[in-house]
Amino acid sequence: MTFILLDNGEMAGDVNLYLHDDDAEIEVMVAEKASRRKGLARDALQLMMCYANQQIGARVFVAKILQDNVPSVRLFEGLGFSLLRKLEVFGEVHLVKDVGANSESVAETKNRWRVGRYSEDALSKMKYPVK
Ligand SMILES: CC(C)(COP(=O)(O)OP(=O)(O)OC[C@H]1O[C@@H](n2cnc3c(N)ncnc32)[C@H](O)[C@@H]1OP(=O)(O)O)[C@@H](O)C(=O)NCCC(=O)NCCS
Repeated sequence: MTFILLDNGEMAGDVNLYLHDDDAEIEVMVAEKASRRKGLARDALQLMMCYANQQIGARVFVAKILQDNVPSVRLFEGLGFSLLRKLEVFGEVHLVKDVGANSESVAETKNRWRVGRYSEDALSKMKYPVK
């Protein structure tokens, strides 16, 4: 499942969720450097976890990050993720968060965070068209 991140109507990145039997792997990318450090990644991860929890019952989220990717480790730790395992052979750390059954509702999320849809105009201007 993918949500596209918009910054002032322009595509800036994406957040992806891969569903497994026991957990869901989550990743985020803010490709446009000018769109970084605005809280987009934090908001997108929170929204994706709320949506997946409320809509399909996902509870355990795992982020797989290269261990020298300090911005990403800080991002996920700031959202309450903690170390699950280190995979030295791949140079990765895996962080985990169990949201339990207490995730906020998507309706509450929508009130607090920025959620929108593409317009046809925005789609035609996107640098990275989605098919
Ligand atoms: C890592 C990345 C997703 C952060 O996106 P972002 O929208 O700039 O992040 P946010 O603005 O939501 O930042 C949230 C928190 O993450 C941490 N963070 C983000 N960028 C950081 C940086 N360059 N250095 C240190 N901490 C950073 C901070 O704790 C920040 O909170 P603060 O601004 O209150 O200090 C973005 O830099 C990126 O796409 N990098 C390349 C791809 C990648 O590494 N993806 C993650 C793989 S799962």
